[in-house]
Amino acid sequence: MTALISLKNISKTFLTEEIETRALNGINLQINKGEYISLSGQSGCGKSTLLSLLGLLDSPTTGDYQLAEEDASSLTRNQRAKIRSQQIGFVFQSFNLISDLTVFENVMLPLTYQTGLAKTVIESKVNDVLEKVEMAHRKNHYPAQLSGGQQQRVAVARALVNDPAIILADEPTGNLDSKNAEAVLQLFDQLHQDGATICMVTHDPASAQRASRCLEMFDGQLIKDSINHQAGSEHNVQPVELAVG
Ligand SMILES: Nc1ncnc2c1ncn2[C@@H]1O[C@H](COP(=O)(O)OP(=O)(O)OP(=O)(O)O)[C@@H](O)[C@H]1O
Ligand SMILES: [Mg+2]
Repeated sequence: MTALISLKNISKTFLTEEIETRALNGINLQINKGEYISLSGQSGCGKSTLLSLLGLLDSPTTGDYQLAEEDASSLTRNQRAKIRSQQIGFVFQSFNLISDLTVFENVMLPLTYQTGLAKTVIESKVNDVLEKVEMAHRKNHYPAQLSGGQQQRVAVARALVNDPAIILADEPTGNLDSKNAEAVLQLFDQLHQDGATICMVTHDPASAQRASRCLEMFDGQLIKDSINHQAGSEHNVQPVELAVG
């Protein structure tokens, strides 16, 4: 099977004033279509940096990145933005909805960057994803009129509306109480069952265990990669210690 995503020896160094931070150091990773991956590790180990590279928000300092068999490591800013809008769905900890747009308008936004889509097609796509996340009944509300859990479900709908190749979620339940967090995690379980490819950063071990594959980082490197044979239940992870260079 050809991997959806293939990272080879990826490094990312940030230079701020005189200080050099090596946020990623020799990352090798393949992600296959349909995988639900959790990414854990202590604060500052490089999780968000890795997600930004996967999502073409940033580019690596060195290394190769292939997305759907295309070389994504040497794209221009504009090319990255175009592929990002077609292939990537982002979900952030703080929802990032636009406050003066309605639920419907927020979810519609990614489609407005595509030219030539008929209004009826746009409407049916938005309605479909809002049904999927059970937010169709709130489509004319504004974000401030929704609970945190509802806002995050709208953000997931916005991430899904383009039918992206992968959904990247950075601590999607980090700002939610346990009940709302559970609703969002159940939504991810459902999306995974329906075939979506997901990579979710989480600090919470129980949330990480719901994924079909659990990755752990330390100090810019991947230190664990385990397949979760019965995603969702406990005591089923067989960890593989990775050789760290
Ligand atoms: N734009 C940037 N400029 C400079 N340094 C950065 C930048 N982004 C991240 N870093 C540094 O890179 C390292 C990795 O940061 P990153 O945000 O990826 O960590 P993280 O694992 O997501 O942490 P957390 O769990 O706290 O969100 C940190 O040392 C951070 O300070
Ligand atoms: Mg982070």
